[in-house]
Amino acid sequence: MVHKSIEKALILKNQALTPEIHEMVLGVKTTLGVTPGQFINLYCKDGSRLLPRPISISEADEKGGTLRLIYKVLGKGTEEFANLQKYEEIDYLGPLGKGFTLEKDDGKTETQETQEILIIGGGVGVPPLLELSKQLKGKKRVLLGFEKESILIEDFKKVATEVAVATTTGDEGIKGTVMDLLEQGAYAPKKIYSCGPKGMLKAVQAWGRERNIPMELSLEERMACGIGACLVCTCKTKEGPHEEDWSYKRVCKDGPVFKGDEVMFE
Ligand SMILES: Cc1cc2nc3c(=O)[nH]c(=O)nc-3n(C[C@H](O)[C@H](O)[C@H](O)COP(=O)(O)OP(=O)(O)OC[C@H]3O[C@@H](n4cnc5c(N)ncnc54)[C@H](O)[C@@H]3O)c2cc1C
Ligand code: FES
Repeated sequence: MVHKSIEKALILKNQALTPEIHEMVLGVKTTLGVTPGQFINLYCKDGSRLLPRPISISEADEKGGTLRLIYKVLGKGTEEFANLQKYEEIDYLGPLGKGFTLEKDDGKTETQETQEILIIGGGVGVPPLLELSKQLKGKKRVLLGFEKESILIEDFKKVATEVAVATTTGDEGIKGTVMDLLEQGAYAPKKIYSCGPKGMLKAVQAWGRERNIPMELSLEERMACGIGACLVCTCKTKEGPHEEDWSYKRVCKDGPVFKGDEVMFE
């Protein structure tokens, strides 16, 4: 399902999970065809804020026709979202972008139940990994990093084999980052899925590369149109074996999920 036009969604829930992080549940016409890792463009009601705000789909409930979003209040747009009330309407466009590849898309069915998959998230990169964790098969080991307060841990525990947490302050889980969790565990995944800040993704990519593990990384870039038209959100991607074999891709349209060996971090 890709809506070509802006739709109205009904806000069924909009509440704070922590002082900074909010949860919004939207009633939408259909969630059929949503892929984990995709996002929607949410529009502000305040006319002075024309550009939509891209927010990842954290969960998509086909039966209920709902999308769950988890967002951090950062600037004026997300502040406006946090003040919206239940049963108000909000304009959105989506689902947008290219999400994660699910195992079933690889055509593998027999061995996947026993294979280990690493799912690594940081900060507001964590929400889209929840729907991914629900849909992936296999031994799902989830490593999540936050500054101080964690989110969605109980939700991940329901769908993953193991959930480990790190916070930079040490308030929850181990004191450190997901890279510390990664170094401490004896992980031998057949694939890594990751979403989070660039520095974290870069470190995950290096760890996976050293071990020759296939990866999918979801990037976050500042966006404007969110639909591939303005080229604000480009990232550098590798296109071949030589140094000069690279090009720019649009994170909103060609991503936000890219193959791990494709992404070139500056
Ligand atoms: C694919 C994608 C998925 C995202 N998913 C989530 C999510 O699930 N939860 C969450 O909390 N945040 C998410 N973000 C970040 C979120 O879009 C920004 O925090 C939000 O747009 C900030 O808007 P603002 O008006 O509060 O801040 P302002 O700084 O006032 O925004 C000003 C302008 O810059 C753009 N902008 C600012 N920061 C970002 C950013 N990091 N990425 C893209 N555009 C930005 C805004 O859209 C807006 O047009 C995602 C970003 C991308 C690209
Ligand atoms: S935000 Fe316009 S092309 Fe990606």
